[in-house]
Amino acid sequence: MTGPRIVIAPDGEQVGRAGARHIDRLRAAGALRTLGVATGSSPLPLYRALATLWRDGEHREHGDLGEHGDLTAFALDEYVGLPSSHPESYHSVVAREVTGPLRLDPERVHVPCGDTDAPDRAAARYEELIRAAGGIDLQILGIGGNGHIGFNEPGSAPDSRTRVVDLADDTRRANARFFETLDDVPRRAVTQGIGTILDARRLLVIVHGAGKAGLLATAFDGPVTAGFPASILQRHPDVTVMTDPVAADGLAAHHTIEETSG
Ligand code: GLP
Repeated sequence: MTGPRIVIAPDGEQVGRAGARHIDRLRAAGALRTLGVATGSSPLPLYRALATLWRDGEHREHGDLGEHGDLTAFALDEYVGLPSSHPESYHSVVAREVTGPLRLDPERVHVPCGDTDAPDRAAARYEELIRAAGGIDLQILGIGGNGHIGFNEPGSAPDSRTRVVDLADDTRRANARFFETLDDVPRRAVTQGIGTILDARRLLVIVHGAGKAGLLATAFDGPVTAGFPASILQRHPDVTVMTDPVAADGLAAHHTIEETSG
């Protein structure tokens, strides 16, 4: 199995620009009909750069939708028990950071439903929706400080599917920055499973920033273990990692590493 392709750019903004170009190339090649979108702060520069790229490249009028209004998108996860209208629900975040700026068709942008009395049923429906769409061509992924992908916390099974999970205490503390108090951070979420994520045809991992120092070495050079969910990405045959020098620090010399100025 070939390892990940690793692209290092000087900082988060330039990581974002390199990621946007990667997505645009796949789209132009006809290889991107279904995009998996991550929340968290890591992919935000990518969404901004992609919005600029696609706006600048537009030459036809399509009413309110842009040229990529036929792209289908699936979010990775959503909090359980937070109204969808809450500004920090992933419904709101995806609408604000992705659907609007990229001028996607809101009808084609899917986020798991956590604002329901039956989140288990909603999770199963979401898994089915992804399958019915023909799977995900490219999944964008961040990595949490404890190695989580989506909201698959340490201990998640490698073959897990979309389901309801309890959030780890350190995840709730990390995400408290988006809420008024720690108590306001939901305790559960619906997340695509690790098995669901591994089914995507391609993965684009975006990791940068001081808080992520050495994270990639743990993910890609350490043992594959449920204790650090991102390590399972070593098992996927088509992974591109876009990162900065801090997060890439300590990566083993055998990796294919490219540098870009963004
Ligand atoms: C969040 C999201 C993940 C994200 C991760 C890292 O809790 N559920 O999908 O990848 O944590 O976030 P950040 O990019 O802000 O470090």
